[in-house]
Amino acid sequence: MSTLIKANVQDGILTIALDRPDKKNAVNREMLEAIADRLRGAEIDDNVRVAVITGSETVFAAGADLAEFQKYTIETIHRDPRLECWRAIWAFSKPLIAAVEGYCLGAGSELMLACDIIIAGASAKFGQPEINLGFMPGAGGSQVLPRRVGSSVAAHMVLTGKPISAPHAYKLGLVLDVTDDGACLARAMEIAGEIAQKAPLAIKAAVQALRTARETPLQSGMMMERRLYESVFATEDRLEGMTAFLEKRQPIFQGR
Ligand code: COA
Repeated sequence: MSTLIKANVQDGILTIALDRPDKKNAVNREMLEAIADRLRGAEIDDNVRVAVITGSETVFAAGADLAEFQKYTIETIHRDPRLECWRAIWAFSKPLIAAVEGYCLGAGSELMLACDIIIAGASAKFGQPEINLGFMPGAGGSQVLPRRVGSSVAAHMVLTGKPISAPHAYKLGLVLDVTDDGACLARAMEIAGEIAQKAPLAIKAAVQALRTARETPLQSGMMMERRLYESVFATEDRLEGMTAFLEKRQPIFQGR
């Protein structure tokens, strides 16, 4: 088991904390594999309803581990072992929330971009600085970022390597809430707790629909939404939710 992350499950929430503070949580292969393994496990664990990814109190992650990366050859990149990890992260079908304090750069930013909801501490900084090192983002930085912050801001970030602040990220809609420094994990857990109470099948379908919206033309997205909506309509939880409302009581969702 890797020592580079801390993970625990409580009340339906998987929390993964990157834990390599001496290296600013630089994401090496071991850390990425540990994150992917936890998410693969959580995917098939009905006790996990939602996952929160966070860093340490002063840094989310300062990008890929450059000491490791510098030794990679073009052959390593062609058979990049990290790609399977990214695929597992992207394929995680339950809600992912990022709680970001401090620097969130490069691969750290790409990990944050894989999340559905992002909460930031006031001093958080989001950036794709790869260009300063003579290369470019390779795990979604040039693809997801324009869809979340707009093409001009994303181009400026990717082409100059300059980060944006938490208040700026909030104005762009990248970030849901900006908290005081040190308080963003608590806010993320509060939101995760709310989501964990909802009907799991409806949440999964809604997550899929929301992610589809980022990458699909409107009409195809509308058709996909309708299919997901119909699948959720067939669940026992949907009937329970509506019945509970009419009976003026709290619903008891079973994930069926
Ligand atoms: N990969 C490997 N090691 C990293 C790292 C990275 N991406 N980012 C930081 N570290 C290491 C530093 O080498 C240093 O190690 P050392 O104490 O053994 O020398 C340690 O973490 C502390 O970093 P330091 O640069 O001294 O901290 P800082 O507070 O002065 O600056 C940053 C913080 C994030 C601004 C700076 O570390 C930085 O620019 N990192 C690289 C960011 C980057 O280009 N990421 C994209 C990678 S694709």
